[in-house]
Amino acid sequence: GQDRTMQKPMPRIVVIGHRGASGERPEHTLLSYQRAIDLGADFIEPDLVPTKDGELVARHENAITDTTDVAAHPEFADRKTTKTIDGQTITGWFTEDFTLAELKTLRAKERLPKLRPGNTAYDGQATIPTLDEIIALAKKESARLHRVIGIYPETKHPSYFASIGLPLEGRLVAKLKAAGWDRADAPVFIQSFEVNNLKQLHAMTKVPLIQLMAGSQGPADHAYASYREMATPEGLKAIAAYATGIGPELTQIIATDGTPSTLVADAHAVGLKLHPWTFRAENYFLMPAYRTGTDPATHGRLAEEIDTFLKAGIDGFFTDFPSIGVPARDSF
Ligand code: G3P
Ligand code: CA
Repeated sequence: GQDRTMQKPMPRIVVIGHRGASGERPEHTLLSYQRAIDLGADFIEPDLVPTKDGELVARHENAITDTTDVAAHPEFADRKTTKTIDGQTITGWFTEDFTLAELKTLRAKERLPKLRPGNTAYDGQATIPTLDEIIALAKKESARLHRVIGIYPETKHPSYFASIGLPLEGRLVAKLKAAGWDRADAPVFIQSFEVNNLKQLHAMTKVPLIQLMAGSQGPADHAYASYREMATPEGLKAIAAYATGIGPELTQIIATDGTPSTLVADAHAVGLKLHPWTFRAENYFLMPAYRTGTDPATHGRLAEEIDTFLKAGIDGFFTDFPSIGVPARDSF
């Protein structure tokens, strides 16, 4: 293997390839993660859900109707079902009803074919990746490129999966341990929208944790009434007891009309990093006038928007377009 001391360390401000480079490849495929790495992302982001036999795989949701060809598999027709998860009722196919071997017979496809028609060229070319495969890719590419490439896993619906006997926390920590990454200085952040999930992880591992937040509602485990409550100085102090940072929505930092909040200062005051989500070329929060859908000619405006947030003091960010995010970070 490569001498770690010869590897370029992580930059101070990190670029997280959201679902890989999901602006350019079907999300949560090894193709998408590889593309993010090739474009210079520091981290690749798998959203994690379990299989029936307890493996961890990367999908944004456990519902896989829109991101795989499962509907075209007659042998799985009777697995179609309706579930209510975290208040949302969904009809379709779900990862927890398939063994890993069964899931591996499916092929991934683009979730947003109208918005990202170019990505459909890769439909059918990739399987659903396991966390093991993603860790192996990050390690292999770190060695090849002589720079540290990390993973930034999110535990999805952790209370729900615990309630059906497939808790995510122990499985994730076991995988990190096996990879030699169950350490405070590992190139890993674990993120979750749920508070109790992160508190549980805090008791199990030294890996840095990120509390995700959204502009509205509250965490699914009802630990707080709202994420707004969590974003107050008192709420942030409570988060700092178990987490290294927060993952707010962009609009919690700068409103759509351009008004900055005090969140960056308040989070930094209690030692929390800020890694907001999600910069994508198809939604310009600050500059709706430049919201241009799929026209690559105006994607450059995304760099301006990222620059505005970098000036506001963020410590890293999630983006579907590392092709834009990495140069924006490098020129800051
Ligand atoms: O993890 C940050 C961001 O990804 C949270 O939203 O829905 O894209 O997983 P989501
Ligand atoms: Ca995520």
